[in-house]
Amino acid sequence: MTRPDDHVIVLFGATGDLAKRKLLPGLFNLANAGLLPDRYRIVGSAPTQFALSDADFRKHARDAVATFGLAEPSGPAWQTFEEALSFGAADPENPEPLLEAVRTAEDSAGSQARRLFHLAIPPPAFPSVITMLGDTNLAQESKVIVEKPFGTDLASARALNETIHAVFAESQIFRIDHFLGKESVDNILALRFANGLFEPIWNRDHITHVQIDVPETIGLEGRARFYEDTGAFRDMIVTHLIQVLGIVAMEPPVTLDAQSLRDEKAKVFQALRPIEPGHVVRGQYEGYRDEPGVAPDSQTETLAALHLEVDNWRWAGVPFYLRSGKNLAQHREVITLGLREPPPRMFHPHFSKHESEPDNKIVIDFGDPGWIAVDFLAKEPGPTMDLGPARMTFRYDNSFCQAHGLQGYERLILDAMLGDQSLFTRSDGIEHIWDTSTPFLENPPPPRPYAPGSWGPEPAINELIAPHYWYLPDDRGV
Ligand code: BG6
Repeated sequence: MTRPDDHVIVLFGATGDLAKRKLLPGLFNLANAGLLPDRYRIVGSAPTQFALSDADFRKHARDAVATFGLAEPSGPAWQTFEEALSFGAADPENPEPLLEAVRTAEDSAGSQARRLFHLAIPPPAFPSVITMLGDTNLAQESKVIVEKPFGTDLASARALNETIHAVFAESQIFRIDHFLGKESVDNILALRFANGLFEPIWNRDHITHVQIDVPETIGLEGRARFYEDTGAFRDMIVTHLIQVLGIVAMEPPVTLDAQSLRDEKAKVFQALRPIEPGHVVRGQYEGYRDEPGVAPDSQTETLAALHLEVDNWRWAGVPFYLRSGKNLAQHREVITLGLREPPPRMFHPHFSKHESEPDNKIVIDFGDPGWIAVDFLAKEPGPTMDLGPARMTFRYDNSFCQAHGLQGYERLILDAMLGDQSLFTRSDGIEHIWDTSTPFLENPPPPRPYAPGSWGPEPAINELIAPHYWYLPDDRGV
């Protein structure tokens, strides 16, 4: 595997939740996999009020890796990683400590070292940090990873693009959506375009409906400040779920390079029909308004489910149903494609688990490590021709060696160091998604209460998808 050039990585938001849960553990995993550069330095940064000493940042990173990482932060591997960490606080009006820390890091990483900034900060802080990177010349010949959500609507996404483009060229910008770095999401490209088995049926002639379902069991986890202004639609739907829809629905790209892949995804987003408020269910779990940091009359949705249409030749008339929410009954990441069935005239009626469950379907579980199943009917053993449900399953965990498997963030940070933008989102695609969302965002229906641990607000959540229903397979794929 190609290793990136030497790098100084500057992590804004280094004391925040994302850095603790994903980024610091992910960087250590990359180090353990031998995929960080020969010479690298990681400079943590945050506003002065959250400043840490180098020693405290190292301890912070060790705690993060111990709690959320795959490997223990100990031994020579940890020591080498820890020595590469330092901290430099920065406020737009006082960037000096950061500049000093970057200079020191560059001295150790060598004159060829490239700079990569990761903006793991709340969206309102993007403009001031980006402007500071421009004013201090740090941005020169560097790359920047920008976290989601990218804007809160079409106007703000355009304004943010203008702010970024005033400092960085498009080739330097890496808008990250970590679902696009998941192995089993990438594998959808292989499933569809490397196999004569699936692609011929991947269209409106053979597929009746598509579900992309990402229920979560976790609640706010102390993120009220971010979540109150964001909500499930902006946190999950316009970002992760619609990006996954882009992969499921895209036309075959000419090559797998960044431009071809992102062109095809942008065409899917351009073909999305405007999202009408009546096609969206918003939910709020009971007890949300009592959470610390949440307004007692909060209208923020903790669940969003919607019916989308991709209005192009491949998909016209095929409904796409998306759902994601907090505090639901299960944590799952499942795509289900219902297949049209032949009229089984010569066969006896058979029983399926649910009267409207399609007997023929393709199920893609993209939770790590993920599996794919094809459901069909088979003859039940016996003297009569009775049919029963059957399944063919591919499971990642018993099919390939997992040693090289990287988690979403790890894969994408590696790609950003390598300068490969294929799995990063592009401004035109994002703007199409916001444009499509405008009717809903201008007139959102009120959130409906749902019980924690349920599947969302009844009966609205089920009426949205009728005559189909939310299909959640056994989570082992068997
Ligand atoms: C994040 C959202 O982007 O993705 C979180 O902000 C969500 O609210 C998370 O829980 C889900 O991703 P994963 O990979 O942790 O399941």
